[in-house]
Amino acid sequence: MTDRDADKCLAAAAAVEEVCDDMLVGLGTGSTAAHAIAALADRRLKLQAVATSQASADLARSLGIAVRDFADVVRVDLAIDGADAIDAQLRAVKGAGGAMVREKIVAASADRMIVIADAAKRVERLGGVKLPVEILPFARAFAAARLSALFERLEERTDYRTDNGNIVVDGYGWDDADLPGLAGALMAIPGVVGHGLFLTEIDAAYIAGEGIVTRLERGRQAR
Ligand code: A5P
Repeated sequence: MTDRDADKCLAAAAAVEEVCDDMLVGLGTGSTAAHAIAALADRRLKLQAVATSQASADLARSLGIAVRDFADVVRVDLAIDGADAIDAQLRAVKGAGGAMVREKIVAASADRMIVIADAAKRVERLGGVKLPVEILPFARAFAAARLSALFERLEERTDYRTDNGNIVVDGYGWDDADLPGLAGALMAIPGVVGHGLFLTEIDAAYIAGEGIVTRLERGRQAR
């Protein structure tokens, strides 16, 4: 295990300590979330989960976690998920793994949403990373043309479909001065299903660097 992977594992283990018996837990997607799923299974709690991707559902079930269909769920107690970049205000970019639309829905349904990450994900500004946008295949060319006004460069993921059957375009070179404005502009494009900007959903973050876990809470100092 690399040092970075060990830090992902530490952050995941710290977050999973917040899970109690009888909770309905939202399971994130990606390598850090996979550590959380494994740590959760190790705790052998009496709980149920919903998953933000088929991959996470499969992993959780393989480890003995009961996974419910989110289509029947209104709220979850706690969601735990990774991020590609997170700033001091707990605003994040997600979706490198393409699961950002389901991740955002589960995060919105959660009483508490925790991001887990290694320290390399902490950034002063979000604009330096690629911003994934999920698009209906029907709107591929039209939506990409509209998106080109918001990004210096767009790259469509080749031979790729999300769990929702849609395509993903990664946007590079975007202006992060007005994040709510950008989020609104993205969602105003017909055919855009969602994007990886998480501006209000995250309540807390466990960030691990060099073996030390720091907990950040929205609106509070690091602990
Ligand atoms: C999945 O679509 C993403 O939002 C992941 O949560 C994010 O990319 C973090 O993944 P890693 O934990 O693998 O870095």
